[in-house]
Amino acid sequence: MSSKLSQEIDRRRTFGIISHPDAGKTTLTEKLLLFGGAIQMAGTVKSRKSDRHATSDWMAIEQQRGISVTSSVMKFIYRDREINLLDTPGHKDFSEDTYRVLTAVDSAMMVIDSAKGVEAQTEKLMEVCRMRNTPIITFINKLDREGMEPLDILSDIEDKLQIECVPLSWPIGMGKRFRGVYDRYHQQLHLFTPGKAMRGDEEGITITDLADSQLDELLGSQADELREELELLEGAASPLDRDQFLQGTQTPVFFGSAINNFGVRELLDAFIEMAPSPGPRQTVQREVQPQEEDFSGFVFKIQANMDPAHRDRIAFLRICSGTFTRGMKVRHHRIGKDISIPNATIFMAQDRAGVEEAFPGDIIGLHNHGTIKIGDTFTTKEPLQFTGIPNFAPEIFQKVVLRDPLRSKQLHKGLLQLSEEGAVQVFRPLMGNEIILGAVGVLQFDVTMARLKNEYNVEAIYQPAQYFTARWIGGEKKQLVEFEKKLRANLFHDAEDHLTYLAPNKWNLDYVMEQWPDIRFLKTREHG
Ligand code: G4P
Repeated sequence: MSSKLSQEIDRRRTFGIISHPDAGKTTLTEKLLLFGGAIQMAGTVKSRKSDRHATSDWMAIEQQRGISVTSSVMKFIYRDREINLLDTPGHKDFSEDTYRVLTAVDSAMMVIDSAKGVEAQTEKLMEVCRMRNTPIITFINKLDREGMEPLDILSDIEDKLQIECVPLSWPIGMGKRFRGVYDRYHQQLHLFTPGKAMRGDEEGITITDLADSQLDELLGSQADELREELELLEGAASPLDRDQFLQGTQTPVFFGSAINNFGVRELLDAFIEMAPSPGPRQTVQREVQPQEEDFSGFVFKIQANMDPAHRDRIAFLRICSGTFTRGMKVRHHRIGKDISIPNATIFMAQDRAGVEEAFPGDIIGLHNHGTIKIGDTFTTKEPLQFTGIPNFAPEIFQKVVLRDPLRSKQLHKGLLQLSEEGAVQVFRPLMGNEIILGAVGVLQFDVTMARLKNEYNVEAIYQPAQYFTARWIGGEKKQLVEFEKKLRANLFHDAEDHLTYLAPNKWNLDYVMEQWPDIRFLKTREHG
C-alpha cells in the first residue's frame, strides 16, 4: 500500500449538509468556505446561486424561479485537511439528487433552526443517512434569535430522529440575552457581542472550574443559570462515544449563529477531528478498501448542460479506492468498455479545474454522452458493482400527455434517458398506456419537460395523477402472480421493468400491505 495514498485518504473529509430550507445551510456553507479560504467575500455562495447558469437556455426556469437547479461539489482545505462539501439542494430544487448525494458522503452536518426544531426535510434526509449509518454532527443555528429551550431542541431531535444528542457546547441565553457558548469539550467560554460579526478566530476564555468568579464577572446573573444547566447536563447527557458517533447513533451538538460567524469555527474544528476519512464501501462482489491500489468509483449524479456552450452532461463520480490520474484508462463495467479519461473535472468552490490526481473521497466529473447511468461503477480492472445508490420512492406524480402522438417514440427515448440520469422516474401501467412520472421535488417535472422539448423535440403536457407514493414489489413467484392479477390497476413497470405499486393514498398502501404480508413493498430500489 502506498503511503502517499494512505496520507491522502487520512486528510480527506467528504460530507453534505442536511437541513430544512431556511435553517441556514447557505449561510453556514459560506462561512465554512471562508475558513477554508475558498472564497474571499461573504455573499459569494448566495450570488453564485443565481448567476451561475445565467446563460443557460434550458435553465431559464431556474432564472424565473431565482433558484439553482444544480448542486455542486465544493472543495477546500482547512488545517491541512482536504474537505469536499457536497451540496444537497433544498428549497424548490429539492430532488432525488438531494437524497443520492448523501449516498456519496462519509458524514453529514445537520443544521437546525433553534426556533423551529426538527423540520420535515431534515427528517427525510436523515432517513437516507440512516441507510448507511452516516455519522452526523449537529449545529443548532440562530441562537441570536428567540427560540426553543435548548433542552427541548435536544429532545425534539432525539424523539423525531432517533439519535442521541451529546451537547459539546452549551448556549448562554438566547435572542437578546444571548451571551455566547460554553465549550464543554475544551472547557472554554466564547463570548458573543450582539451586532458584531465575528472574525471567527477569537480565542475562548479557559474556565476549567465552573465556580470560578470570572464567570460571574463576565456573565453577571446568567453565570448561575449556566452553572445550573451544565450541572443538569452532567447528570443527563451521555459522554461522547466515538464508536456510537461513527455508527450514526449519537450526534455531537454545537450551538451558534451562522450569520454572525459565531460557533462555526468550533464546529469545523470538531468536524475535521471527529468526522471519518473515506472508509470501505460495499460492492455486490466484496468490500472495497480505500487504500487498495486499483482505482474504483461510482456515479451518483448526472448533471445535464452545466456548460451551455457544449450541450454536455457531467457524471459525478465518487472515488472509492486507488489514485485517479489524468488520462488513465478505466473500465465502464455495465457496458464492458474501456474509456480513457483525459479531462475529468474536479469541483472547486469557485471553479472547475482540470484534475491531475484525485483520491478516495474526491468527486470527479466525467463527460458523458448519454452512456453513463446513475449507479455505474468504474474501476481499473476488476469487475465490481457498488451498492447503496438507489432510486427513492417518488412522492409526487404527474401524467404525461403527448401533444403530437406521432412523437411517441421520441418521448419514450427521452424519458428512458432522463430516468437513467436520475432526472425523473418513469412508470408504465400494466393496463392501458398512459405514462406516469414520479419525483420527490416538483422542479424535477419542469426540468423534464424543458429537456424533452429541447433535446428530444417533444411537446407534452402534464395532467394530474392522484398517487401518494410508490413501492417496488418483491416476493415469491406464486404470490407475485396472484398479486399482479388482483391489483393490476395500480401496478406499473419502472424504466428498468421492475414491478411497482402506485398507491392512491396512505390508507390504501397500509391496507394493501396488510392484505399481502408475503409481498415486499420497498421504498428504495438499487440500480442494476
Ligand atoms: P438555507 O440555505 O438553509 O435555506 O438558509 P439561508 O442560509 O439562506 O438562511 C435563511 C435565512 O436565515 C436568511 O435570511 C439568513 O440570513 C438567516 N440566517 C442564517 N443564519 C442565521 C443566524 O445565525 N441568525 C439569524 N438571525 N438569521 C440567520 P433571509 O432574510 O431569508 O435572507 P437574507 O436576506 O438575509 O439573505
